[in-house]
Amino acid sequence: MSKNTSADAGNLDAFRSEGDLNLSSQRDQWQAEHLGAPTRALLAKDASLFLHQSLSTPCLNALRRVEGAWIEDVEGRRYLDFHGNCVHQVGFANPKVIAAIKRQLDELPFCPRRYTCEPAVRLAAKLTELAPGDLKRVSFTTGGATAIGMALKYARVATGRFKFVSLWDSFHGASLDAISIGGEAAFRQGIGPLLPGCEHVPPPEPMRCPFGCGRTCNLTCANYLEYVLAKEGDVAAVVAETVRNTPFIPPPEYWQRIRAACDKHGTLLILDEIPIGLGRSGKFFAFEHFGILPDMVVLGKGLGGGILPLAALLTRESLNVAGHMALGHFTHEKNPVACAAGLATLEVIQEERLVERAAALGAYALPKLRELAARHPLVADVRGLGLLLGIELAKVGPEGVFQPAVAAAERVMYESLKRGLNFKVTMGNVLTLTPALTITRAELDQALQILDEAIGMVEKE
Ligand SMILES: Cc1ncc(COP(=O)(O)O)c(C=O)c1O
Repeated sequence: MSKNTSADAGNLDAFRSEGDLNLSSQRDQWQAEHLGAPTRALLAKDASLFLHQSLSTPCLNALRRVEGAWIEDVEGRRYLDFHGNCVHQVGFANPKVIAAIKRQLDELPFCPRRYTCEPAVRLAAKLTELAPGDLKRVSFTTGGATAIGMALKYARVATGRFKFVSLWDSFHGASLDAISIGGEAAFRQGIGPLLPGCEHVPPPEPMRCPFGCGRTCNLTCANYLEYVLAKEGDVAAVVAETVRNTPFIPPPEYWQRIRAACDKHGTLLILDEIPIGLGRSGKFFAFEHFGILPDMVVLGKGLGGGILPLAALLTRESLNVAGHMALGHFTHEKNPVACAAGLATLEVIQEERLVERAAALGAYALPKLRELAARHPLVADVRGLGLLLGIELAKVGPEGVFQPAVAAAERVMYESLKRGLNFKVTMGNVLTLTPALTITRAELDQALQILDEAIGMVEKE
């Protein structure tokens, strides 16, 4: 592990929006206390080979197994994984997904451009069956950012416009086009020119709202977004995460107002459900909570069963507008093995009623989180939609002044790791909890108990 990665936690807040960082003295300390020589050697080798950046290499630890709701490190410690990069809707190493992949490997392992294959067609058909309204056209890619890139291209072709409006603090992927519309300025620092015509507006996050709406969204941000659409007059699309996985859950009127504003101004609505689709929110598509239909929705992450990289862009039938053009082809666009994994994933979600399960377990966990908030002054807010849960650590002063408890959040994360719970911290102070949808109630209780202890421990310090 290279020593020059450490830095004072207090100086790094600008970079923490998407996740906790490897440039942290708390991380160094955790590693010094917990990792044995073989793990350190593997991490050092990894760090000597891979390009460094603060959200990945140098790494925290090394794994040897993932299964169900759990990950296991090379020294045999098991952690309930409440991060999982949001790929583990059907649980890690799901046996039905693995069996489908193995079968497909023997039948047809690849499908070059200009050819199609049964698994790709079946997966596209299944997704369009699950999608409401006329979201009946599909394109596959190997990752969320590239699917977002395709959505931007289709929006430009369909509208003849090039501008996009998106939300501050949002994340849509790591590629240049995705960081242009992404709302995390840290990802753009020092990167140079990006896509032109990308404008950002405040998200519906009451505790951080620049319009000062207090604890409840009063739709000023939605009104402002409409104002921007009207002023610009030629915006191709609004691009947003239906619910950012912090998670702040907008009131249904928020999305209804934005849908209406888009219709009024000839602007498309593109929703990014890459980490939160496939049932995590308690509905297959998160937008179903809000009584709206987007023009495009992007799925990814867990679509490949948490094993293979796969993302999907679904659009309305009317957006099938580029037949006369070359928009580019992705080498693994109709990869039969990834598509077989996707089909098996959707079958598991349906057969095991994981959408309903996420809703029920979320309804069980949220009151427990509220109890936890009542016990711990460090917890300023808890929020949840299905198994998309968040605990906001902050000090709220007498005038409602909100001070994110950044150092404490990181401490709670490492205290939780010590006790066998893995999760990520978003925005510097939000404990973001996204377990496998297959998690048992006992495992969920175990995680809540760990959080209770870890928060209590940090409060005492
Ligand atoms: C909301 C959101 N959009 C897009 C992406 C990018 O997906 P990928 O990493 O597969 O490119 C992510 C990944 O974390 C995400 O959380």
